[in-house]
This record gives sequence, structure tokens and C-alpha cells, in this order.
Amino acid sequence: MTTPRPTATLDFLQTRRSVTAANMPPGGPDADTLQSILAAGIRVPDHGKLAPWRIVVFEGEARATFGAQVLRPAFATNQRSDAPETTLALEAARFERAAVVLAVLSTPTVSHKIPLWEQQLSAGAVCQTLLIAAQAEGYAAQWLTEWTAFDPDVRAALDCSGEHDQIAGYIYIGGKATNDSDRPRPDPEAVISRWPS
Ligand SMILES: Cc1cc2nc3c(=O)[nH]c(=O)nc-3n(C[C@H](O)[C@H](O)[C@H](O)COP(=O)(O)O)c2cc1C
Repeated sequence: MTTPRPTATLDFLQTRRSVTAANMPPGGPDADTLQSILAAGIRVPDHGKLAPWRIVVFEGEARATFGAQVLRPAFATNQRSDAPETTLALEAARFERAAVVLAVLSTPTVSHKIPLWEQQLSAGAVCQTLLIAAQAEGYAAQWLTEWTAFDPDVRAALDCSGEHDQIAGYIYIGGKATNDSDRPRPDPEAVISRWPS
């Protein structure tokens, strides 16, 4: 058994920050690094070994194509039918804010002895692990849902229309960047207790 390196890992986990998709620099992980990030992302706790999740990768031209073929018409149809052209163009370009967008789908096996909730939690673990993996390699990354996670036409285009299927989120990954400002964090005393209190 190898000796873990808790200090480096805990240091990273206690200081990592997301960089918003709007502020991501150009560039992104190369093919090998993205493969490693994806491999880390699917190495998550998974009760029953059901792999109740899928990842759809968007990069390069696919981001604009999906925007034109799916995001734009979905927004016009389901979100805002009177949207002006400027808004539609912005919505179509949503995935182009980052070099890579990973859609994480929660696709549980229903009526299974493993509870639905546990399968959904595993999809959340995929999202967080992808985020951590990308940030650990120095890339700007953010977990977003926005309207694109809930729109029926977007879900259909991603083959995520089963009764219990959901889009757990999109992991946006841009170029290398850190976010040095922190956001308010919960007071540990307010959310962590010991039993008996
Ligand atoms: C499931 C989930 C969905 C989110 N969706 C959005 C969103 O749609 N828009 C947004 O501005 N932030 C959203 N966020 C929050 C961002 O990820 C935000 O950047 C993050 O909370 C920053 O925290 P961090 O620096 O600790 O990573 C979401 C977070 C989670 C966990």
C-alpha cells in the first residue's frame, strides 16, 4: 500500500475555487489530460456498480453546432418565445464560453434495490470529481446547470428523457486560471456537530 499525501490533497481541497464560465480564459486541457480528467470523473463511489450516469463531451465545433441546432431553438420554444436575435445568439453560444463542456447525465436504473437517491448522489459525485480533477490540473472550471439542464428539448437531444433521468450539470473547463478571491463559506460550527452535542 502506498502512503497517501494528505497534506497536498487537503491543501488543494481547502483552497480550490471555481472560475465562472464568463471569465474562463481561452485554451483548455489537451486530449490526454481531458482523458485523465474523464477517467477520474467516472471513478466514483457507485452503490451496486450500476454506473448510473453518462458523460457527453462537447469540444471544438460541436459546441457551436449544438448551440445552433439545440440550444437556440430550445430557448426560443421553451424559455422565451419573444427573445430578440441578440439574446438568441448569446444562448446559442452558451457552450462556447469554455473549450470543453461535459454534460453529466443522471441515468438511474429504476425499480432497483439500490435507491434512486443513492444513484443520483453518484452522479453528483461524478460532477464534483470532474470539477476537482480539472481544477487540480490548473484549469478554470465551473459546475453549472442554468436553464440548459432542465429544458425538455435539450434533455431529449442528450438522450436524457427517461422519467428519472436528469442533467446533473455541465462542467465547463477553460484554459489555465485560478480564482484568488474566495466567496463566503459556511461557518463550520453551524453545519458540523458532534454527537452527543
Ligand atoms: C448542482 C449545481 C448547479 C449550479 N448551477 C449554477 C448555475 O446555474 N449558475 C451559477 O451561477 N452557479 C451555479 N452553481 C454554482 C457554481 O458552481 C459556483 O461557481 C460555485 O458555487 C462556486 O463555488 P466554488 O468556488 O466553491 O467551487 C451550481 C452549483 C451546483 C453544485
